[in-house]
Amino acid sequence: MGEYVLEMNDIVKRFPGVIALNHANLKVRPGTVHALMGENGAGKSTLMKCLFGLYHPDEGEIIFDGKSINDIPNTKAALAMGISMIHQELHPIRYRSVMENVWIGRFPTRFGFVDHDKMYKDTVELFKKIGLNVDPRAIAKNVPPSQLQLVEIARAVSYNAKIIIMDEPTSSLTENEVEYLFKIIAQLKSEGRSIIYISHKMEEILRISDDVTVMRDGKYVGTWLAKDIDQDFIIKNMVGRDLTNRFPIKDQEPSSEVVLEVKNFTAAAKRSFVDVNFQLHKGEILGIGGLVGAQRTELVEAIFGLRALASGQLYKNGRQIEVKSVRDAKKNGIALLTEERRQNGIFGILSILDNTVIAAQQSFAHMGILDNAKREPAASQSCQELKVKMPNLATPIKNLSGGNQQKVLIARWLLTNSDIIIFDEPTRGIDVGAKYEIYTLMLDQVKQGKSIIMISSEMPELMGMSDRIMVMCEGHVTGFVDKENFDQVEIMRLASSFKK
Ligand SMILES: Nc1ncnc2c1ncn2[C@@H]1O[C@H](COP(=O)(O)OP(=O)(O)OP(=O)(O)O)[C@@H](O)[C@H]1O
Ligand SMILES: [Mg+2]
Repeated sequence: MGEYVLEMNDIVKRFPGVIALNHANLKVRPGTVHALMGENGAGKSTLMKCLFGLYHPDEGEIIFDGKSINDIPNTKAALAMGISMIHQELHPIRYRSVMENVWIGRFPTRFGFVDHDKMYKDTVELFKKIGLNVDPRAIAKNVPPSQLQLVEIARAVSYNAKIIIMDEPTSSLTENEVEYLFKIIAQLKSEGRSIIYISHKMEEILRISDDVTVMRDGKYVGTWLAKDIDQDFIIKNMVGRDLTNRFPIKDQEPSSEVVLEVKNFTAAAKRSFVDVNFQLHKGEILGIGGLVGAQRTELVEAIFGLRALASGQLYKNGRQIEVKSVRDAKKNGIALLTEERRQNGIFGILSILDNTVIAAQQSFAHMGILDNAKREPAASQSCQELKVKMPNLATPIKNLSGGNQQKVLIARWLLTNSDIIIFDEPTRGIDVGAKYEIYTLMLDQVKQGKSIIMISSEMPELMGMSDRIMVMCEGHVTGFVDKENFDQVEIMRLASSFKK
């Protein structure tokens, strides 16, 4: 074998109306972590799908393990060759067990029947090898998304592949889980395997990768040793220009007017949030910080009418309101952009237009009939503001890159004209340039007198965007920090400070 375990040369892939890959290159050395970087829609996932047999390149050559391969017919062939992939979008079979999800398509059999005992044993062994603590018999729908992502990683590892593609593997992982993943990666590397790693988290990239390849608009930009470059260099090559500020400047203080008040919120479910009290001011961005299990998502879901309360009252502009359903929430001008957008938010086969306006349907209907003349310009404008990269509004949303799908969902909520917008991890999976656009949009919203609650696990984002941060730990509010006192150490301390 030569210097590289994999070479992808001059790969071209066209879709109707788009050239997703326009002479893309990638050369991966054995036993290394190779980061593949680029803005949303740059072609990273498409290139990897060509390698994994999901897409077929129109032009170009793939050399794997010293052999030239014209085309990888399907994923089965890719796996047989020694290439496995963790997808950006999780698709667990929700009503099957964890172990069935791991071995799907290759169940062990005995006398022609699925051998569940062997499957269980194999799973236990696999999980033990990588130190994963999940019950193989648990039903997928009952397992939290972050754990499912680890199961997905275990599945990819179980193929004994020479190359493991990880497309945004940490997007729904917590800090501890990320550390755990990095340990597995180190182990895989030491076994001589290579990892192609896609992520929008710069810190991660520079920490774990050996080589970095940057793509832009489907084209190859360059490959460097990670130790020779820094974040600014990568960003500059991704975006094609310098990007000095990561956060737009907020030049306006929130008013003292209280728009939303949460009083004594305790969840009906056990081991969830307890006695939460806070006020949200007009024009304020209230950040919610915390670690996994802090129950931040659960709390905002309750405010949005998705979760039952054991006790608690909600006040909007001083008047008590009842929010028992999403419909109630919308009626009261509350919008929620969920964390698990892929699972809960996207209508894959519908067009971008439909996906954008779906939450604001009423305002585009005239006597019950949808008015396209109104829908289109509105959707088009908000997609433009967010710089959604797409052929046109009629494109099915599933054809967009992961990050661009997210932007469409943000556009959707902006169109509803709610005065309280809750963002749960607003920029997960979104590239640095587009993040800035989303931040700018958030600031536009508060300038117009709207108020924002933002859950974020990214400390720079939390501190860069919030006026005030409420920190939670294990369902309890452990403190509030004002902007002048923002301090990473203090926030982390509060995030881990609740002791029963
Ligand atoms: N099945 C498809 N049909 C049509 N266009 C597609 C399809 N898949 C991808 N594209 C287009 O190809 C381009 C590259 O998309 P890709 O998903 O590879 O981007 P990416 O670099 O992975 O972005 P992200 O960081 O947002 O995940 C985008 O313009 C996307 O809309
Ligand atoms: Mg992608």
